[in-house]
Amino acid sequence: MTVAAMVAEFDDVAGWTADAVEELGIRYAIPAACRGSASPAALAWLAEACELSAGTRLLDVGAGAGGPAAWAAERFGVRPILVEPMQAACRAASRLFGLPVVAADGARIPLLSGSVDAAWCLGVLDTVEDKAGLLAEIHRVLTPGASFGLLAVVAHSNESLWAPDGNHFPTQHELSTLLDRSGFTLLEQTSRPKAAPLSWSRRVEQVNAAIAARHRSAHAYALAARQGERLSRLFASDQISMQLIHAISRPTAEQGPR
Ligand SMILES: C[S@@+](CC[C@H](N)C(=O)[O-])C[C@H]1O[C@@H](n2cnc3c(N)ncnc32)[C@H](O)[C@@H]1O
Repeated sequence: MTVAAMVAEFDDVAGWTADAVEELGIRYAIPAACRGSASPAALAWLAEACELSAGTRLLDVGAGAGGPAAWAAERFGVRPILVEPMQAACRAASRLFGLPVVAADGARIPLLSGSVDAAWCLGVLDTVEDKAGLLAEIHRVLTPGASFGLLAVVAHSNESLWAPDGNHFPTQHELSTLLDRSGFTLLEQTSRPKAAPLSWSRRVEQVNAAIAARHRSAHAYALAARQGERLSRLFASDQISMQLIHAISRPTAEQGPR
């Protein structure tokens, strides 16, 4: 990933978030480290859909600073494995939650085929150019029949959008086709469930305020803020929307029917 604004947003801000949480306290960690705009209601929908339970080996691809995986470990007792290409985000997930993190691109996951019970990929797909490659790699590491939870932002038309740098939003049709061609059966989909409660969003705001107080004058801060503003404008004008998807990994021909 070489787009400067994306490095600012996903690397610099992840490191700043970990610093701010360490100052404010650990109860800020999970809300602040959920950077794919997942609310607890969205995470709960995905976790229930995927039937996560104690001991599930959950792979989180593009895990960022680790908030969603830490939430799933805390609430459902899963054993998460995080894959994330940004070094500062990897360090943040490890510092904040002590989770196992592999610094890698989601298109080349250093895990054995069929070695994980379930996977999540939250707010990542639109930031990736080779979406088919990423999905095919997630399919490879999942056991046949395993659940895949996806939080994806879709475009409402084929028109070109004034998107955040490096972001390409698939249409619903493109997303459904991509999933199918990558070996997934889409079982259920919903738009973003209820917004986060104030007790959650206030913690996010406090962490954001601490980051602003310390880094407002940094170039990376301005770049990351511009990314966020562009995304908010697209949501506000209803040009994009957030979708939660539960899909199942179909067995390949070699794996046979299950
Ligand atoms: C919007 S953030 C979401 C982070 C996290 N999933 C969450 O919900 O808090 C998008 C993440 O995708 C990661 N990402 C971008 N390209 C990727 C790729 N090719 N493979 C894996 N992750 C990628 C970014 O580094 C970033 O951490």
